[in-house]
Amino acid sequence: MCGIVGYIGNEQAAPILLDGLAKLEYRGYDSSGIAVRDNNEDTVVIKAKGKLSELAEKTDNGSAVKGCCGIGHTRWATHGAPSETNAHPHVSNDRSVIAVHNGIIENHTEIREKLLRQGYVFRTQTDTEAVVNLIDYYYKKYNIGPIDAIAKTMVRVRGSYALAIMFSDYPGEIYVARKDSPLIVGITENAAYTASDVPAILNRTRQVYYIGNLEMGRLTAGNVEFYNLDGDLIEKELTTIDWDAAAAEKGGYEHFMLKEIHEQPKAVRDTLHAYLKENGKGNTVNLEKTGISEEEIRACSQLYIVACGSASHVGYTAQYIIEDMCRIPVRVEMASEFRYRRPPLVRDGLVVIISQSGETADSLAALRHAKEEGLKTLAIVNVIGSTIAREADYVMYTYAGPEIAVATTKAYSCQLIACYLLAIAFGKARGLVTEECVSEYLEELETLPDKIARILEDKERIQWFASKFANAQDAFFIGRGIDYAVCMEGSLKMKEVSYVHTEAYAAGELKHGTISLIEKGTLVIGVLTQSEIYEKTLSNMVEVKSRGGYLMGLTMSGNFNLEETADFTVFVPKTDELFAASLAVIPLQLLGYYIAVARGQDVDKPRNLAKSVTVE
Ligand code: G6P
Repeated sequence: MCGIVGYIGNEQAAPILLDGLAKLEYRGYDSSGIAVRDNNEDTVVIKAKGKLSELAEKTDNGSAVKGCCGIGHTRWATHGAPSETNAHPHVSNDRSVIAVHNGIIENHTEIREKLLRQGYVFRTQTDTEAVVNLIDYYYKKYNIGPIDAIAKTMVRVRGSYALAIMFSDYPGEIYVARKDSPLIVGITENAAYTASDVPAILNRTRQVYYIGNLEMGRLTAGNVEFYNLDGDLIEKELTTIDWDAAAAEKGGYEHFMLKEIHEQPKAVRDTLHAYLKENGKGNTVNLEKTGISEEEIRACSQLYIVACGSASHVGYTAQYIIEDMCRIPVRVEMASEFRYRRPPLVRDGLVVIISQSGETADSLAALRHAKEEGLKTLAIVNVIGSTIAREADYVMYTYAGPEIAVATTKAYSCQLIACYLLAIAFGKARGLVTEECVSEYLEELETLPDKIARILEDKERIQWFASKFANAQDAFFIGRGIDYAVCMEGSLKMKEVSYVHTEAYAAGELKHGTISLIEKGTLVIGVLTQSEIYEKTLSNMVEVKSRGGYLMGLTMSGNFNLEETADFTVFVPKTDELFAASLAVIPLQLLGYYIAVARGQDVDKPRNLAKSVTVE
């Protein structure tokens, strides 16, 4: 994780770096630091433990630091505890080389030992310090330029990295390099920027280069040159970012999470409309822009959905829908397990990777493994140009726009829509869903944005309920089928932002152990949107109630008898049961959010978490 920024131009660098880091705090926030150089003066390095506000305070929002060239970092600790010493930037022994790093250097101990033998000393516990000194070592030993010294280092280290580097001999220049961790370069007439992600520089420029794997860059004011590992200059394509900068600001909401919850009607509509096509008789699903053909869909005999966190919960929901609608076996795998378990994969299977960031290390490794095994890969990704999007054979973008809160909401909802569309397209291509059914499904999907908006209008009721349960110790979410998949997401939402211990259980499984945890007043949330299994889940709720549990029921309008069993009932508008997850998840997102607010937690940046998990 960790966030990187760099700036070289004719303005004061530190405020720009701090501003950029503020947009990257979702990547990590246990310490931060900047290194800034004022022409030929020595470079100042300032660091602070804790949130970025500590660094801002130390530097008077950057205005106390002179100089127009600098790099900055916000950290999510991997090697070495969060502390001022371990915070980046890190300096080589004689300060010739200063760098910030995102990623993990797997052979840092070996490199440390090598450098210790050469007389280097180490002052931190970080893997980054080994890289900084290794660059310095090659730079001096072979008397070579920065690009060659960085290239030699890239060949020697194992692991993942995005690096922004300053050399004391080269004032007015910033060097960048990457492997597997994201890094972009932004450019204007008078300045150049680097950052881990687009929002960090969006209010400065929209002209962006994506640095490829094992590539390097040399930034000067208004210019950038790119190099390959041989040190040869390479050409790269400039991309214009067309995101709305305001979309990355809070826009009057108290938290990004609440803002993003409210953006769901639009995000869902945008994602849906991106893949619809009028065919004379109505709408049909059009996957042309993903690159996958109807023949390939028809030939596919098995789907593997691989993802992490909330994205994997989308996968579990999709499994129920696709298996039901298309009769294709679907396996859902957590990417961190899939990559090492090495399951036998059928050749004509399709691996679907779901990822908001498109940078999650485990999901990326799973994608590469699938490709090595000769399978085709389709990525459902939100961040345009991200590594997973670039490496997958087919890409189905979601149109959630930038998501800032660490806990995902709108990206999750868009991923669900993408999966519904895939299901319909597979069903149709395989002759299991008629054209008429396609139109009906799509008509129903068109109603979802307004239905989500209606649920949001009633959010105060959830807020009231959340305030009653703000002191809860535990909460259990139970449901069957698609409802169980929704429970997984509702449970994760609540625990990650409010720190209340929660668990999601398949309702029928509760009695095999977990029910022993139910005592008087334990909050149990039952999700019941599926009519075929409604009575079954209801019975499981009754079992909980007779053991003292306090019941919240979540169902579709019309199922009013739930009120007889549940102590508090939430109704969502009626929809096709296959798509019910899109509505049922909304009250659960709100519940997690409002409980966290009532408990005074830092909703957008929960402790120990990071939005983009670029380490295993
Ligand atoms: C992190 C985030 C989760 C997210 C997961 C997968 O843990 O906090 O919200 O679901 O990573 O991220 P991805 O970007 O691959 O969807």
